[in-house]
Amino acid sequence: MPVRSLGYVHWTTPQAEAWRAFATDILGLMPVSGPDPDSLYFRTDDRPHRLVVSPGDAPQVTLGFEVVDDIELEVMSTALEYAGAKVATGSDEEAAARRVSGLIKTEDPAGIPVEIYHGPILDHVRLQTPLVSGFVTGSQGMGHAVIGMDELEPSVEFFRRGLGLFRRNTMRMDLGTSQMGIHFLGCNQRHHTLGLVNMPMPGNLVHVMFEARELDDVGLAYDRCHDAKVPIAMSLGRHTDDHMVSFYCLSPDGVMVEFGWGGLAVPEPETTYEITKGSIWGHRPPRR
Ligand SMILES: [Fe+2]
Repeated sequence: MPVRSLGYVHWTTPQAEAWRAFATDILGLMPVSGPDPDSLYFRTDDRPHRLVVSPGDAPQVTLGFEVVDDIELEVMSTALEYAGAKVATGSDEEAAARRVSGLIKTEDPAGIPVEIYHGPILDHVRLQTPLVSGFVTGSQGMGHAVIGMDELEPSVEFFRRGLGLFRRNTMRMDLGTSQMGIHFLGCNQRHHTLGLVNMPMPGNLVHVMFEARELDDVGLAYDRCHDAKVPIAMSLGRHTDDHMVSFYCLSPDGVMVEFGWGGLAVPEPETTYEITKGSIWGHRPPRR
């Protein structure tokens, strides 16, 4: 049984505090308090948090995937162990810190921490995101993340065979002296929940994507970046695979955040395909 969605992204960074204003005032996420007073917690829906930013000596992303219930978690744990992955059961304290009913912890072949949980404990305080009309989440999860590592294939195998994500599409890029490959994987109607690329990145995080409900949310976020002089990493554009209209800005510690609208919802797994261009239009790097 595959994981059902990307539930949360936990980003550890030496510059955690700088995310407070960036995530709140630029991205428009809702800041909330959480169990760790040193960490920042952000909501985009009725989940207690979708993004957690914690201070740490070195950057590192942790991905939290959701399964339906405790039985699915048990089955996945057994399957991962059978496939040779190291799996640890999260303690009651760790589950409480994530506001979930139970979790297991493992890592992909590149050493990226992966958590799988069930039973999120909901927050019924009304969501307040005055800068954004709302975020597309629900069964499509919190958005998507793209992670980078040296060796692509072992990680792709882990997420496909271990966690059950299916491959939507791939892309190859010729960098002259080397080839870069990208695999886009899905586990629900969101076109892709996880992207993997053979490009080592600090903390393995290439970018994280939040999808807003309205096109104007994207334009308004773009304006906020402009006004606050937040660097734009890629201009407004529309992707060829998930049809997302989005732009990419840079967080204070240099991580790209994609802010988008209009992502494709794919009802069933479809034939895997290769794309030869990342965007129909736009997504250009800044002019030097
Ligand atoms: Fe993306």
